[in-house]
Amino acid sequence: MAALLEVTGVSRSFLQGGRRISVLSDLSFSLEAGRRLTVTGRSGSGKSTLLNLLAGLDRPDAGSIRWQLSGRAWDPATLDERERTAFRRRHLGFVFQFFNLVPTLTARENVALMAELNGLDDAMERARQRLLRLGLDDRMDAFPETLSGGEQQRVAIARALVHEPAVVLADEPTGNLDRETGDAVFAELISVLAEEQRALVLVTHDPELALGGDGHLALGTRA
Ligand SMILES: Nc1ncnc2c1ncn2[C@@H]1O[C@H](COP(=O)(O)OP(=O)(O)OP(=O)(O)O)[C@@H](O)[C@H]1O
Ligand SMILES: [Mg+2]
Repeated sequence: MAALLEVTGVSRSFLQGGRRISVLSDLSFSLEAGRRLTVTGRSGSGKSTLLNLLAGLDRPDAGSIRWQLSGRAWDPATLDERERTAFRRRHLGFVFQFFNLVPTLTARENVALMAELNGLDDAMERARQRLLRLGLDDRMDAFPETLSGGEQQRVAIARALVHEPAVVLADEPTGNLDRETGDAVFAELISVLAEEQRALVLVTHDPELALGGDGHLALGTRA
């Protein structure tokens, strides 16, 4: 069976102050369904750039990115804008360092919104189930600013999973939480993903989290 994700010879550079900076150079790796790939590297090594490429928010200068989802192959770079948005919305879940919840929506509405965008029935009920699973029974109707960081990240995880994507892309998901809270939230994320057989691409600075994956990609190790 084909891998969930196949990255082959991907390069990306940026123009900065008239100079071309090579950020990713001839990068190749693959990810199987339900597995966890951790991505590490110093600041500026291209971790977020890589996630943007995987999500089709940016295009590689060279190489290919091939997802195998719902029985077909997807290369975000070959899709038009509308198809790329639909691909992202349907197949990927995102968790960010700074939670990125909509401040004017309650926890439950934040989660339901993603289900609604995917045209799913019972968005509010799906959101409730997701939040219950993450222990937020009492905080469903709270607005983000009244939630702790750990609670906000649990809501963000519920939102990333409510439309049942095959893979979650997480950029420093515990980077803004204290050690204890970060560990607890991360353990819950891993537990839900394992239960549901969803894959994870995890960008992290945390050496402990980096060791736990099925595969590990260290960016920017060249001189
Ligand atoms: N759109 C862009 N235009 C110009 N330069 C960019 C662009 N996007 C990223 N870069 C540069 O590419 C390099 C890698 O950036 P990236 O955000 O991927 O790093 P990172 O590994 O995620 O770092 P951090 O750990 O600080 O989040 C940086 O030097 C950044 O300035
Ligand atoms: Mg980054």
